[in-house]
Amino acid sequence: MNSNTPAQTVNAPARAVNNPAQAAVASVAPAAHTIRDTTDDPKPSKAARLRALLQSPRLEFILEAHNGLSATIVERAGFQGIWASGLALSAQFGVRDSNEASWTQVVDMLEFMSDATSVPILLDGDTGYGNFNNMRRLVRKLEQRAIAGVCIEDKQFPKTNSFIDGEKQPLADIDEFCGKIKAGKDSQRDDDFCIVARIEALIAGWGMDEALRRAEAFHGAGADAVLIHSKLSRPDEIVEFARRWEQRCPLVIVPTKYYSAPTEVFRKAGISLAIWANHMIRASIASMERISAQIMEEESLTGIEDQVAAVEHVFALQGADELSRAQDRYLRRAASTQALVLAASRGNNLYELTEERPKAMIKVGGAPLIRHLVNELRRQSVHAVTVIAGYQAEKLRGDDYDLLVNEQYEDSGELATLACAAEQFSDDMIVTYGDLLFRGYIVRDLLECPGDLVAVVDSALDAPISGTPDYAYCSRLDDRSLFMADTTLKFIAEKKKLDIGEPAGRWIGMFKVNAVGRGWLERGIAELRQREDYMRLSIPDLLNHLVESGRAIRVHYISGHWLDVNTLDDLGRAADFAHGRS
Ligand code: SPV
Ligand code: MG
Repeated sequence: MNSNTPAQTVNAPARAVNNPAQAAVASVAPAAHTIRDTTDDPKPSKAARLRALLQSPRLEFILEAHNGLSATIVERAGFQGIWASGLALSAQFGVRDSNEASWTQVVDMLEFMSDATSVPILLDGDTGYGNFNNMRRLVRKLEQRAIAGVCIEDKQFPKTNSFIDGEKQPLADIDEFCGKIKAGKDSQRDDDFCIVARIEALIAGWGMDEALRRAEAFHGAGADAVLIHSKLSRPDEIVEFARRWEQRCPLVIVPTKYYSAPTEVFRKAGISLAIWANHMIRASIASMERISAQIMEEESLTGIEDQVAAVEHVFALQGADELSRAQDRYLRRAASTQALVLAASRGNNLYELTEERPKAMIKVGGAPLIRHLVNELRRQSVHAVTVIAGYQAEKLRGDDYDLLVNEQYEDSGELATLACAAEQFSDDMIVTYGDLLFRGYIVRDLLECPGDLVAVVDSALDAPISGTPDYAYCSRLDDRSLFMADTTLKFIAEKKKLDIGEPAGRWIGMFKVNAVGRGWLERGIAELRQREDYMRLSIPDLLNHLVESGRAIRVHYISGHWLDVNTLDDLGRAADFAHGRS
């Protein structure tokens, strides 16, 4: 201890909140992943929002993140701020929390985190990565990346994590550290950028009086808040510190070791901000260890598929939708796959749910069925989508697909509805029922599957079946090693036809054609039009007719990962599916 900085009594109003940015704390975060001009943005800056959190009259919370993805997840969970933890950042790099990662590597990662989110990020800036001069440069570089604030701790560079031999780590000289705080404050361009001074005196065993002396000095040097760190398993130290600190400035804590203390204790103590400091990295470690062990053991992905996030969920977290909208706007596509979606029926089995809307407009997981379907097609680059509507057709209108109306929908079967779109048929076309939810890879693999007409068949026959199943009889059963192997369709039937053998699966209501297959479709429809039951025929009737006429309809096998909505029971399953839980 070689500082003589006089203790200062600063009569700052106790956690006064007079910052207009305060209102922003509870406001809805804008979607990240958008590239926009922020010059005229009326929203408070991220720094102002961090300041508002620190000065909030309530206890506020921020959660650790260590890369763009975890930061996105933290924001989506509702947190109004992010702790860019030194421990977690170094861990995700696979190095120790001992300044082994360079400060520029940290700042590079922060840039991803900041770009991916709209809530403020407080960097755990260790000791400021050097002296006052390094601190000045750090603050400038952080502001350039819209980082809202930095927390620096009164140890010496290179530091190591406080929970590794904390008592052996030398503390910084108080004057030197005050100079570092001042240098940081003098360098910031945005008045709201926050510098939090972290006190390690309790960790290092220097006692409460020394901790308070340091807090006073750092506050006097311009720190916007102080963080008092403790390694005890009870919150006693921080509660005593808070009592004696008397809210001279916002107080921040990191309850990693005293995690079992009720949050009410922190509230009563008048803490401003609690940092849940490392729980995203620890959650991912636990999950990765479990899943990797299971894959190793089972030499298969079947067992873990339901335990990991769906690939589509990864896309969503990455903001894939925004890119696909941007592609629509900025990228003129060459002629590509087209989709025809059959959505003319009311869906009588859904009773009053379809009184005021067609089946495809029923909401599942917050969005109408048709929206999920069109989005999924678009994610697979199928942008030219035509929806064939009938019942309450107007309600199906959407701005990113064409609508075609089958005025005779009440008297039409599926085939007649499809025939309404004959003018739109193309040489690269998917036909799908409008009540399907499916994982995007099914369309992707279908598009890659060779064949003139390819029907998607789900070989997992144990899944719950609602409505009328379209059992598919095929030239070979699927043993899951048949991926994309040459299998043809023999027949589709609503009931099991034991005379033909065991069904190989269920046709899911989707097929694709190329130029040859399109010709088959057109001729098949023309032939079937001659039948007097034409208006009652289904798509399976058409496919069966093509098989009987000697056309080789190729089967593309899948196993699960789709469902159709026929009954009320299906809706619950569909909501889970849409949320990626099944
Ligand atoms: C960090 O998250 O890196 C911290 C907090 O510094 S702690 O690990 O609890 O010291
Ligand atoms: Mg740290």
